[in-house]
Amino acid sequence: MSRRPILAGNWKMFMLSGPAKELAAALAKSAGNLIDRDMVLIPPFTALSVVKAAIAGTNISLGAQNVHAEPQGAFTGEVSAPMLVDAGCRYVVIGHSERRQFFEETNGSCNAKIKAALAAGLIPIYCIGETLDQREYGQTFKVIETQLTEGLANFTSREIQDLVLAYEPVWAIGTGRTATPDQAQEVHAFIRAWLKSHLDVATAEALRIQYGGSVKPDNIDVLMACPDVDGALVGGASLKVESFIRIVQFQKR
Ligand code: PGA
Repeated sequence: MSRRPILAGNWKMFMLSGPAKELAAALAKSAGNLIDRDMVLIPPFTALSVVKAAIAGTNISLGAQNVHAEPQGAFTGEVSAPMLVDAGCRYVVIGHSERRQFFEETNGSCNAKIKAALAAGLIPIYCIGETLDQREYGQTFKVIETQLTEGLANFTSREIQDLVLAYEPVWAIGTGRTATPDQAQEVHAFIRAWLKSHLDVATAEALRIQYGGSVKPDNIDVLMACPDVDGALVGGASLKVESFIRIVQFQKR
């Protein structure tokens, strides 16, 4: 089964609009016409419009880092899925470990947000992954299974056929400590097996699973060589043109 690779740059709470525009324009210039892979830029809300303009007419898509579960309402400070569509987004990250850790995001709230994103026509990038303690206590698969069961509860295969999953071990995010290709593949294969037993096999084979956590130019090729790694969700290394371009232009080894 060949799945189209998807490389996404999560800029987190970095980049004012000036540098955001420059970075997006540089990326658009060097990698805006790749047709055999998907590339997504995920800037902070305030830079969505400049990035949208900079990538117009290229094959790069726009994504957001969070969304509220309601389409509108008295929720001061929040942004809804129809608003993200209105701002030009095609993707939205849901359940990033920083949101789970600092903003009380739960599998249940992720489920509601995924529902809202799908209703608006956005593609959710649903993030899952274990902490270091959970890994050391041998709970990795249990944690992943719960995140999948609760986060994807009540969706049919059809509803989530375009969803993207991102396996991001929390201990690898921003730490410089990447999962080895074997560690990544082991969990990705577990996720795919779970999808096979809970959705139909064709959907499970087609869904893309990104790896995230200290992805860099020097480890992208070996990660992408893993059979169940279909892309990367990149934080720090997506903030520099050269490193993100190299990641996007990975070579399968
Ligand atoms: P990192 O972040 O690449 O800086 O480790 C990944 C992420 O948080 O998505």
